[in-house]
Formats: sequence, structure tokens, C-alpha cells
Amino acid sequence: VEDVSAEQDFMNLGRWLMENTSDKELTVLMAQLGLACKATSRACAKAGIAGLFGLAGEVNSTGDDQKKLDVLSDEIFVSALINSGACAVLVSEERDEAIIVPEEKAGRFCVAFDPLDGSSNIDCNVSTGTIFAVYEKLHPDSKDSSEADILRTGTDIVVAGYCMYGAATELVLCFRSNDAGVERFSLDPSLGEFIHTHTAVKIPPGGGKKIYSCNEGNSCNWDAPILDAVAQFKAEGYSARYVGSMVSDVHRTILYGGIYIYPADKKSAKGKLRVLYEGFPMALIVETAGGIGSTGLFQGKVQRMLDLVPGSIHDRCPVILGSPRDVKLVLSKYEAGN
Ligand code: AHG
Ligand code: MN
Ligand code: MN
Ligand code: MN
Repeated sequence: VEDVSAEQDFMNLGRWLMENTSDKELTVLMAQLGLACKATSRACAKAGIAGLFGLAGEVNSTGDDQKKLDVLSDEIFVSALINSGACAVLVSEERDEAIIVPEEKAGRFCVAFDPLDGSSNIDCNVSTGTIFAVYEKLHPDSKDSSEADILRTGTDIVVAGYCMYGAATELVLCFRSNDAGVERFSLDPSLGEFIHTHTAVKIPPGGGKKIYSCNEGNSCNWDAPILDAVAQFKAEGYSARYVGSMVSDVHRTILYGGIYIYPADKKSAKGKLRVLYEGFPMALIVETAGGIGSTGLFQGKVQRMLDLVPGSIHDRCPVILGSPRDVKLVLSKYEAGN
């Protein structure tokens, strides 16, 4: 690099955490999550060389065929989180049961995570990601922990985040206690450090750069309001963009504006995406950025996603999120149908 002057005052994740959280245990936890993201980023980058493409041979509890990298990234996150000493309960997409951390290593926090999001894109080198939601235990001073500590509404989340393993590895964090809101960090591979790049990220209001994002291959099973809304987006000249990795599709939606939809349909009454480690953290980040996260019509009413209470750790919900203008358009189709 010829000119490093712009880099002289860079803020790495460690310093940012120390300056922005007074909670030491949470700082340690977030540093460990950052480390696990870096380890997963490295594993994805080396996958072709290290023979890490392909299936692991097992099926997880939501019916997905596990890839080798699903299993490896799960192990990376579980190990980093248990060893942080800050966690009591862990929920991973790749584990049937919640992990209750043994008392000698336990702390105040509970983390639900999707260690590698976008499994179908792993083997063709398209962007994948990690998604996580951090809760504080219901009774932080109690030694007892259970699934009940994490089967709670999205409004109880303390930190939501995702890491995208794309052309650059990028970490996006949203602390409920931080007034600024959504923060972006980029991994500098030569330093091995996440460097803070943007604060108070806001989603465009919608209708500007017009993008809708959904798996239209499922449209034969959609309900009329979703079909009507997508037809209207097309009539208004929207472009279709769908990576098929939620992290990448939501990241683009936050930065460019537009709407991301994974609805319930005739075949899946709850949709595909999982509440605790896909729907909730993304809805919290989008809402904090000024967008809307809804389920559409679900269980008899149109709901704000963060108000759901998941019935089980791998529970699913429909996802409609993005710029206010675009999400409101979809929700108006539900109201018109009533
Ligand atoms: P995961 O790879 O963690 O199981 O998640 C897959 C999810 C999400 O990443 C993506 O948005 C969606 O599944 C894609 O589903 P379709 O292939 O049905 O479009
Ligand atoms: Mn999966
Ligand atoms: Mn996922
Ligand atoms: Mn996954």
C-alpha cells in the first residue's frame, strides 16, 4: 500500500468494543464472536485447497443436508463461545438440542447462531455468512440455565449481528444499548483485524434503487397478497436480485434499499427461515437501520416479527423485511384482502 495515511487512526473491533460497551463480559463475548467469524472466513477462503467443499453426510434438525463447512463453522463458534466464559445457553442451527454450558465455564449470556448461512452457495464460491443473536439470561445471577432463557421475543435481544464472507469479510453489529445503531466493520486480511468503517447505518426509504428479492421458483405456492405485491414491484420497474444467502440478500437490502421476502406458502405454513438465528437478528438490524421486519399474515394476523415468541429453538417464521415503503406495500395487500 503506497499511502497508508488513511489507515493511521483506524478503529479495530477490540478498541471499538472497549469504547462503546461498559460491560466487560459482553466485550469478551463479542471479541470471541469476532474471532470465530475470522476463523470461519479463513475456512471459507481455504475450502477448495483444504478439501472442505461438499457434504458432511448428516441432516440437521430442520432437514438441511449438512455441508462440511456447516459442521466446521459450528464447531468454531461453539468452542469460541464456551471458552469465552460469558455464555450460559447456545443454540446452533446445526445442533438438535441447546447447549447448556457447564457451570465452571458459564456466564450471563445466551447466543443463538446460524454458523454458516447460505450452505447451497458454499461449493460455488458465492457469498455466505454467519448470523447471531445475543440475549442476557432471564435471571443473570442464577446458576440455572435452560432453553427458556433464549425462547423469548426478538425485542429482548442485547446484540444482533451478522458476518458476510464475500469479496470482503464484513461484520455488522447492532447493540441495543448503542444509540448510533447499526455499525459496519471490514476485515483487513493483512492485519487480521476488523476495522470500523461505518456508524449509524440507515436503510434507504425505498422506491429509489428498486429491488425485490425472493425465490420466485416458489411463487406457485404463494398467497395472493405476496403475488400481488411482487406483480406490482415488477410493474413499477423493480429489478430482481436473489443471491440465495440470507446474509448477502439482507446486506444488499440494507445498503441499497428494497425488499427481501421469504414468505409462508401453501407447502410451508411457517416459511423456511428460522426465528432465533435468522429472522430475529436480521429484523432487529433492519429495524434499527430504519426499516421494517414483518411476518406478513402469520398465525391469523399481520405481525411485527420481533414480537413473536418462538415455540422451540428451531422454530420458523415467514420473513418480509426491508425499506419501509416496500414492506408497507406488501402489508397493504394483506389489509386489502381482509
Ligand atoms: P442455511 O444455509 O443457513 O441453511 O440457510 C439457508 C437459507 C438462507 O440462507 C437463504 O436465504 C435461503 O435459505 C435460501 O432458500 P432457497 O434456496 O429456498 O431460496
Ligand atoms: Mn442449513
Ligand atoms: Mn441460514
Ligand atoms: Mn446455516
